Amino acid sequence: MVDLNVHIGDLQLKNPVGTASGTFGFGEEYADFMDLNKLGAIYVKGLTAKHREGNPYPRMAETSSGMLNAVGLQNKGVDYFISNIWPRIKHYDTEIIPNVNGSTVEEYIEVTEKLNEVEGINAIELNISCPNVKEGGMAFGVSCPSAMAVTEAVRNVFDKTLIVKLSPNVTDITEIAKGVEDMGADAVSLVNTFLAMAIDVKTRRPVLSTVTGGLSGPAIKPIALRMVWQVYHAIKIPVIGMGGIMNATDAIEFMLAGATAIQIGTANFIDPQVTLKIMDGLVSYCEEQNISKISDLTGQLRNI
Ligand SMILES: Cc1cc2nc3c(=O)[nH]c(=O)nc-3n(C[C@H](O)[C@H](O)[C@H](O)COP(=O)(O)O)c2cc1C
Repeated sequence: MVDLNVHIGDLQLKNPVGTASGTFGFGEEYADFMDLNKLGAIYVKGLTAKHREGNPYPRMAETSSGMLNAVGLQNKGVDYFISNIWPRIKHYDTEIIPNVNGSTVEEYIEVTEKLNEVEGINAIELNISCPNVKEGGMAFGVSCPSAMAVTEAVRNVFDKTLIVKLSPNVTDITEIAKGVEDMGADAVSLVNTFLAMAIDVKTRRPVLSTVTGGLSGPAIKPIALRMVWQVYHAIKIPVIGMGGIMNATDAIEFMLAGATAIQIGTANFIDPQVTLKIMDGLVSYCEEQNISKISDLTGQLRNI
């Protein structure tokens, strides 16, 4: 038997495998395909203070080894989540972690204050890295002073585990990671999508209505892995790794690079049961390697 428990701030996750925000709805959409109770965590779709329509179509495109999205934080707002969705999903035996967004620091505070009051919500993931909104979003996550300011403001109104989700669209991700750690983040998650674009040569127009969007999937994995490794060595708080994880081997790479837990995003669109397969693969690897606690894998990359 392998002990799969991992710790993120005050949270104890029953295993390190979670689903990435925006790729797994509120979990319930996948309930017919898999047992949600088996997941370590569900990081739900990004929430804002008010209802948002998101960006016009087309806002998704397939690319070589990946996909572009420019959904633009479509959601019905935090109040709708708390009164209509949370009551339907709160009984699942997994950690459900809302993803908090805003165009201003005040909006981040407003969403967080509301979630702080909800019994059973034990953590939030603060998204300062959305590349698909005109105001706020990634703008907070690509400058160290603004990343620190929003983290500090949210820390002041949130008593539970605070995870800050970092943007890869920066020169030095370790600087931002250290900044948000100093402001009281309990963990960081990385990476969000990479700013990217595609062109339709027949029409000579951009494929996405917003011209640019966020790249995810296997195409970003080696870069995301490098960033997780760098951040792991720069800070003391736990790192939650993601970016192109498609199978158990990818997940093990992220853990060896320094991730305490991982999130699976784009892979859910290809195989809705991929998380369970990754979990089985992690257990088999630990058994083969005589590892009794999965947490012992974190950061165990050997020297060349
Ligand atoms: C369609 C789509 C919607 C997304 N929406 C959000 C979101 O609302 N909040 C967020 O923090 N990340 C969002 N993301 C980013 C993912 O959570 C994840 O960081 C990224 O896709 C990299 O992981 P992957 O390569 O495994 O997909 C979204 C990604 C996709 C593909």
